[in-house]
Amino acid sequence: MGLTHLALHGLATLAVASASLDRQKPIGPGNDELPVIEAPSWAQISYKKKPLVTSEALEATIKTEALLDRAKHLYKIAGRSKHAYNHRTRVIGSDGHLGTLKYIHDTLKSLGDYYTVSKQPFPAVSGAVFEYRLLLESDLPETAYPMSLTPPTKNKEPVEGELVLVDNEGCDKSDYPSSVAGNIAFIKRGTCPFGTKSANAGKAGAIAAVVYNYEDAPVGGTLGVPSPDHVATFGLSGGEAAPYLAKLKGSEKVSATAYIDAEVNTIKTNNIIAQTKYGDQDNCVMLGGHSDSVAEGPGVNDDGSGSVTVLEVAKQLSRFRVNNCVRFAWWSGEEEGLLGSDFYANTLSAEENKKIRLFMDYDMLASPNFAYQVYDARDKVNPAGSQALRDLYVDWYGKSGVNHTYIPFDGRSDYDGFIRNGIPAGGIATGAEGIKTKKEVAMFGGEDGVPYDVCYHQLCDNMSNLNLTAWELNSRLVAHSVAAFAASFEGFPKRVLDEDFSATEANSDPFAKSVKHQGKKLFI
Ligand SMILES: *[C@@H]1O[C@H](CO)[C@@H](O)[C@H](O)[C@H]1NC(C)=O
Ligand SMILES: *[C@@H]1O[C@H](CO)[C@@H](O)[C@H](O)[C@H]1NC(C)=O
Ligand SMILES: *[C@@H]1O[C@H](CO)[C@@H](O)[C@H](O)[C@H]1NC(C)=O
Ligand SMILES: [Zn+2]
Repeated sequence: MGLTHLALHGLATLAVASASLDRQKPIGPGNDELPVIEAPSWAQISYKKKPLVTSEALEATIKTEALLDRAKHLYKIAGRSKHAYNHRTRVIGSDGHLGTLKYIHDTLKSLGDYYTVSKQPFPAVSGAVFEYRLLLESDLPETAYPMSLTPPTKNKEPVEGELVLVDNEGCDKSDYPSSVAGNIAFIKRGTCPFGTKSANAGKAGAIAAVVYNYEDAPVGGTLGVPSPDHVATFGLSGGEAAPYLAKLKGSEKVSATAYIDAEVNTIKTNNIIAQTKYGDQDNCVMLGGHSDSVAEGPGVNDDGSGSVTVLEVAKQLSRFRVNNCVRFAWWSGEEEGLLGSDFYANTLSAEENKKIRLFMDYDMLASPNFAYQVYDARDKVNPAGSQALRDLYVDWYGKSGVNHTYIPFDGRSDYDGFIRNGIPAGGIATGAEGIKTKKEVAMFGGEDGVPYDVCYHQLCDNMSNLNLTAWELNSRLVAHSVAAFAASFEGFPKRVLDEDFSATEANSDPFAKSVKHQGKKLFI
């Protein structure tokens, strides 16, 4: 899960880890060997002889050591990217991510014929920034940071011009004075996506753009779908923008130099889907986590934890018989803007869509300074059944004697494509960049004034970045959620077979309300 703009603090001019990326070295495996995956003893038992799944039985199969062992594998696999990134990562397109996909696939294949395993390829846009610098007069603002999927400056060289203030929020072509041509557009954040501002600046002939925040904080996010009109674009905090803004408003000139060396590429990646061959194939409970990490680190918590739990539950479920079909997913490209889950949900035929009774999202289950968070999904604004799923989590936490909090069900993870396509959804998480409050410390322990995950989207999201207490408990809850629906959908709302289901008001139009994320990324 993630927000890019919080990773900005303290980054000076060209401090991105990938700045040292050596693009000359040939692609090839690292030194870390993939683990050998052995078939479990029950893989040989005929399906008919297996016991029917119950929550109690499936929960009892969850062992911390097994989760930890898988996390270690992923961490090791992330090392396969070192030759290209100089550090561990499982970002899409890297050997660390390819290794992750192979590990998941091989594990599923070791379970005999219990699952139909498939790969769903899709194109994903992937960007990398190698170097950057923004010079305003003689200053290097600390919060100047390139937007994700930004193109480079011309010829990947520094460009010089004057900073030109754009009217309003730069959402309309008429906001751009003719003096923007050949210069650097200075645009206020708000109202329309960053990508629209960047394209408008490009169309007006700007050589680069700087989007400054309407508040003191830094701003960073993604330009979204690449456009030939996009120009190299930085985000800048409102605080650092203020003195230049004052000068420009007083008709003083501000000279600027912008430099971004970056690449935007379209690559092919894939989701992995595993469906039980048994149980009612027309009524499936679906769940998933994401297989990719951000480029900055190995992503052991985000979302190594969720994807490992989903994998371990898939393995353990194969000890049992099921009444309903269970479909597991490992999404790719989540960190680039929910690409894999969106692709999947958006390309379901009406008939296939109806077979999915609900989707359960498991993204970040072991944050070191965790809270037990439940997505506050409601039938009033989300597809019917979302609230029943929410209540299943709440009841289970209650029965287990732990507290929980509700968090906004606002489209920041892979459930987004499902609810937009009318499929009930929900999930649990343990927190990302948000700061734990004193009240939450009373509820969960841990430290107040510190993020739930201090290593969120960073290199240190490694083996030390897991709280095993939270991970084990949440994994048991994941097992419960699978077992409950694998056994029965009794009492769970039937899918409303509305031909022209258009997503509910809260989710249909990202610009209609205050939705500012496309997945983990800020885009507006
Ligand atoms: C739940 O939170 C309350 C404070 O709201 C606290 O007193 C209680 O100890 C917490 N329970 C657990 C199991 O941590
Ligand atoms: C996990 O969290 C619990 C509760 O806050 C704490 O007691 C425990 O020490 C933590 N464990 C790790 C490994 O951080
Ligand atoms: C993991 O990150 C922590 C910082 O949180 C660091 O101290 C530790 O050395 C890292 N561990 C490994 C194995 O790299
Ligand atoms: Zn993330």
